[in-house]
Amino acid sequence: MHGKVSAMPQRALRLFQLSDIHFGLEDTRAIAWAKECIVRERPDAVVITGDLTMRARHREFRAACNWINALDVPVTVEVGNHDIPYFNLYQRFFAPYDRFRAIEKLVETELDLPGLAIVPLRTTTRAQYQRFPWSNGWVTDKALAECLAAIDAHPEGTRILVAAHHPLTERRERDGKLLTINGTRAMEALAGRKVMGVLSGHIHDPFDLTVQTAAGPLRMIGAGTLSKRIRSTPPSFNEIVIDGDGLRVEARNLEHVATPDMQIGGVPENALPPRERGEPVAPVGTVPLADPPVH
Ligand SMILES: [Fe+2]
Ligand SMILES: [Fe+2]
Repeated sequence: MHGKVSAMPQRALRLFQLSDIHFGLEDTRAIAWAKECIVRERPDAVVITGDLTMRARHREFRAACNWINALDVPVTVEVGNHDIPYFNLYQRFFAPYDRFRAIEKLVETELDLPGLAIVPLRTTTRAQYQRFPWSNGWVTDKALAECLAAIDAHPEGTRILVAAHHPLTERRERDGKLLTINGTRAMEALAGRKVMGVLSGHIHDPFDLTVQTAAGPLRMIGAGTLSKRIRSTPPSFNEIVIDGDGLRVEARNLEHVATPDMQIGGVPENALPPRERGEPVAPVGTVPLADPPVH
């Protein structure tokens, strides 16, 4: 769903990127604060990059949909691996998005702001014949084609941000482990179209990295989590300011940690705390000893 992007604006645009709220294991203090910031500051849009729930349970979706529907600004929502039914296999395969019905219009929806389009890229799949478990990303040919077609529908020079759940990095740096299937091809295609950045979640620590692809540089911006399932940083969300061709990211958090101390320097496999040597850790190093229990 997309329309025409209007002429280049004079004023800067401000987005809040929220991610991995994981209703069921949400940090109540952090989400109350995030909502207060949205109400008070009225960003031009809120981009939620997936993992709304912990186990895709009905009660978790109800809480997520109520929270999101109360936001009085444009919102787009990506689907995370935790949002596909986990216990009900029939639903997982045949109606995986049923539980989103209350926010249906916001899911994987393009947002057109003055001079800027936020285009969804689906990275979450119901199953992956390549491996098990299926929690990591896969940019299918169809998902990539849909994203590129949406980008190409805009006049050249339109500023584009892509919103996905999984970071697109295909291989983990330290040992080459497969992360997002088809990620390299997706990154090249997006770099070739000169997108301003790819927004993602999934790993629960923020980052702002520019990677070199065969088609040029690509900026990858990750948001932290607003859940209790923290990795190496306190709960946070990204404030993104787009001013002309410039884009600034601040990893806002209740602990007043400066953004450079919040951001990790590489893309790990997932949201598990880095208890293995060589996993990226943010300078603030808020690493929990154990994950909180899931009920
Ligand atoms: Fe997550
Ligand atoms: Fe995830």
